[in-house]
Amino acid sequence: MKISVLKETRSGESRVAASPETVKKYVALGADVMVQMGAGDLARFADADYVEAGAQISPSAADAAQGADIILKVQAPSTEELRVFGRGSKLIGVLAPHGDEDALGSYARLGIDAFAMDLMPRITRAQSMDVLSSQSNLSGYKAVIDASAYYGQALPMMMTAAGTIAPAKVFVMGAGVAGLQAIATARRLGAVVSATDVRFAAKEQVESLGATFVTVDEEAMKEAETEGGYAKEMSDDFKKRQAEFVAEHIKKQDIVITTALIPGRPAPQLVSDDMVAGMKPGSVIVDLAAEQGGNVSLTRPGEAIEINGVTILGFFNVPGRLPADASSLYARNVYNFISAFWDNETQDFAVDWEDDIIKGVALTRDGAITHPSFAIAETPAPADEPVAVEVEASAEAPTDETSDDNKDA
Ligand code: NAI
Repeated sequence: MKISVLKETRSGESRVAASPETVKKYVALGADVMVQMGAGDLARFADADYVEAGAQISPSAADAAQGADIILKVQAPSTEELRVFGRGSKLIGVLAPHGDEDALGSYARLGIDAFAMDLMPRITRAQSMDVLSSQSNLSGYKAVIDASAYYGQALPMMMTAAGTIAPAKVFVMGAGVAGLQAIATARRLGAVVSATDVRFAAKEQVESLGATFVTVDEEAMKEAETEGGYAKEMSDDFKKRQAEFVAEHIKKQDIVITTALIPGRPAPQLVSDDMVAGMKPGSVIVDLAAEQGGNVSLTRPGEAIEINGVTILGFFNVPGRLPADASSLYARNVYNFISAFWDNETQDFAVDWEDDIIKGVALTRDGAITHPSFAIAETPAPADEPVAVEVEASAEAPTDETSDDNKDA
């Protein structure tokens, strides 16, 4: 099996899909690993570290991907990047397929079996592969650090000979993985923290971190969680009452961190123009949902802005602002996924198409879109779509048995 690690090409992407640590583990499994030159530079992983771990370095993406059975990426490949993928290769990345159905059509037509790590089911067995959790955790931490950098005051209470400084008040909206880490970080820095969520299960978690849970209607919240642990869209009545309640609470806050998401939908809008107008000058809002449209009406996605003295940070790719840690954790998520399906005898990534994990993440297989959440509608190929060539048989090509299994399944 040849595993290739490509350098990310999207602007602002500083992460890499394999670390020297995971390269060493792939080599121990019996894989050949090829890393594109400079792939880890922004995450502070030098080419020499990959070589020491057992990888070979390729001068270009095309070279690295030549004959690759598995291609590891962080973000979905651009049309340009797809040119280097061979027919029959497997792509593993954070492919963000919702809203990008055209890309699925391209993977299918090019004969690429694509696996979206961001669709990992939330089952116990897959926890170590849960990329949304590993990256959100870092986002929650970084949101507080970014907020404190823009906030012109200290976060903890300080008692000095010259007098006492009051602690900052931090309000976290959405207490999932990112929100809980933001609460923990703000608490460690000495802030007085409150939080809200629509899922009732979040209340106890928030309180166990020493923050206050605020909500307008606990009863409505008990219905708001899906089996997968995600939030459901709330009723208009709940949203209205919660907004009035939040408007009052927000006036007293110094820092607001919003993290609310509903999978596959635009982010719910929780902070209106009026609420921002009611905040004290010098306050800071961090909108971690900026990439999904934002929880704050005034967020300018990708930017830091100031309106009437209130700073609103809408940075994209917040985990990418901690590239070494984000890459290390993502690389482990990917390794845990691949190794879970590794056949030690044949030294092969032996995909079990009936496994719940694979069913959750597999988008395409043998030229067809297979994921149940995506329409099988045939979209015309873009004029500049590349033509994939067959992956060359390598010394450790899958055995006939494995290929037959795949055909029959
Ligand atoms: P997420 O990133 O989809 O959403 C963030 C938070 O926003 C969630 O807590 C959600 O309830 C909240 N939210 C949505 N709409 C809201 C609104 N209108 N107002 C306020 N809050 C709103 O969720 P995330 O962080 O990925 O995970 C949610 C939960 O899933 C976790 O807290 C955890 O309990 C569970 N989980 C389970 C895992 C497992 O079993 N393998 C792994 C990771 C998380």
